[in-house]
Amino acid sequence: MVYIGIDLGTSSVKLLLIDDKGKIKKEVSKEYPLYYPQENWSEQNPEEWYDKTFEGLKELVIGYEDEVKAISFSGQMHGLVLLDAEDKIIRPAILWCDQRTSLECDEINSYFGKDILKLTGNVALTGFTAPKILWVKKNEPENFEKIKKILLPKDYLVFKLSGIYSTDVSDASGMLLLDVENRKWSKKMLDFFNVREDQLPKLFESYEVVGTLKENLKDKLNLRNDIKIVAGGGDQAVGAIGVGAVKEGVLSVALGTSGVVFASSSKCVVDKEGRLHSFCHGNGEYHQMGVMLSAAASLKWWVEDIEKTIDYNRLLLEAEEANFDKNLHFLPYLMGERTPHNNPFARGSLTGLNIQHKRGDITRGILEGITFGLKDTLEIIKDMNIDVKSVRVSGGGAKSEFWQQMIANIFEVNVDVVNSTEGPAYGAAILAMVGDGIYKDVNTACSTLIKVVSSKVPNKTLEKKYREKYEIFKKLYPLLNS
Ligand code: XUL
Repeated sequence: MVYIGIDLGTSSVKLLLIDDKGKIKKEVSKEYPLYYPQENWSEQNPEEWYDKTFEGLKELVIGYEDEVKAISFSGQMHGLVLLDAEDKIIRPAILWCDQRTSLECDEINSYFGKDILKLTGNVALTGFTAPKILWVKKNEPENFEKIKKILLPKDYLVFKLSGIYSTDVSDASGMLLLDVENRKWSKKMLDFFNVREDQLPKLFESYEVVGTLKENLKDKLNLRNDIKIVAGGGDQAVGAIGVGAVKEGVLSVALGTSGVVFASSSKCVVDKEGRLHSFCHGNGEYHQMGVMLSAAASLKWWVEDIEKTIDYNRLLLEAEEANFDKNLHFLPYLMGERTPHNNPFARGSLTGLNIQHKRGDITRGILEGITFGLKDTLEIIKDMNIDVKSVRVSGGGAKSEFWQQMIANIFEVNVDVVNSTEGPAYGAAILAMVGDGIYKDVNTACSTLIKVVSSKVPNKTLEKKYREKYEIFKKLYPLLNS
């Protein structure tokens, strides 16, 4: 029997198929465009998500038509998808990286004050979904009136495939409408946003079965069995499942477009300043995380937009050959910043250059700046007395051994490399297996399937040098973004 994991990302959808031993049999990926209609706006067309996903599914299942049992999902979080009475898309989806809602966030945070932490476990941030709803209400009242259902990105796929309006608690945590601790919609938040509960999808745990694949789609794909559709979750929670970060002390660092430091916990821990997101995990528990907006996106900008190449290996090799330079700094705020500065208007910088610097020095400085940005979250996690024993990395950037070692040196903790590096798509396939009853729960599936294959241990000399360099890094944001 085989299981499908679908990761609906920001630039592409990745689909993979695993057998019941967790071995990857096939992978397909399809890209779609990201639209920037105005400065600070980021939108996508949900129909393009679905068309590309279905195209990918068609290719993926060839040769496995008799074996597919269940499908589950991981999705870019927070995006606002609005359906009208005919289930048509009302306007393009407003994405997680869209920064248009700073006024709305100020309004929400000043109305609720610290109470918002009690109600939702979080403060209003421009990335989150509910401020986007308020923006639509104020700026596009005709669209607000038409809303029959509010979905998150992956939930649109679930709806198209199963006909059911569902979401899961990990993804719903990023809406600012969920009472995260109690895993249910918050009436007070719904009232504030003038949203009725019937406009929201039904809540599931990530590993629960929502429904089955529609008959006509099953025929189009030539599938034999009834296919279970399992709820899935937000990309960070599902990515953490994909690398086995489901227990306290084991952190997940995801180096995608955004960069995330993620800590699991059995209790809902909320920082009294709201510096970290406190969300439900996909294993039935909770997690805290900090999100930087431009992690691999900063590297991509440097390599592809400025250096006009796609030869990442060459640039990373040059970076590895460059010397440590205490004074060359990069501030990775190319799209504003969420954690820790919560400033949609923050700008990036490259400082401390001299005439001897080569491209490799700058590439190295960029990697260090991104990793220091992640360390900002690690410091908050430690400050909240959350246990940090080791880190597991995933995402495109995680493939570089040089970057893995840099994370170990800067975080001052072992970086464990696991036998699965696919992150969210693999985590989604694990959820499909749990939904089908192959494993009794997510943690059992992870401990059976995911093993540490190697570790990067901090280098004591560099650890000390980076500790000093980080102290300088911390001083630069207030100076350069005031
Ligand atoms: C999480 C977040 C990003 C997006 C994009 O809070 O905003 O990780 O989900 O992948």
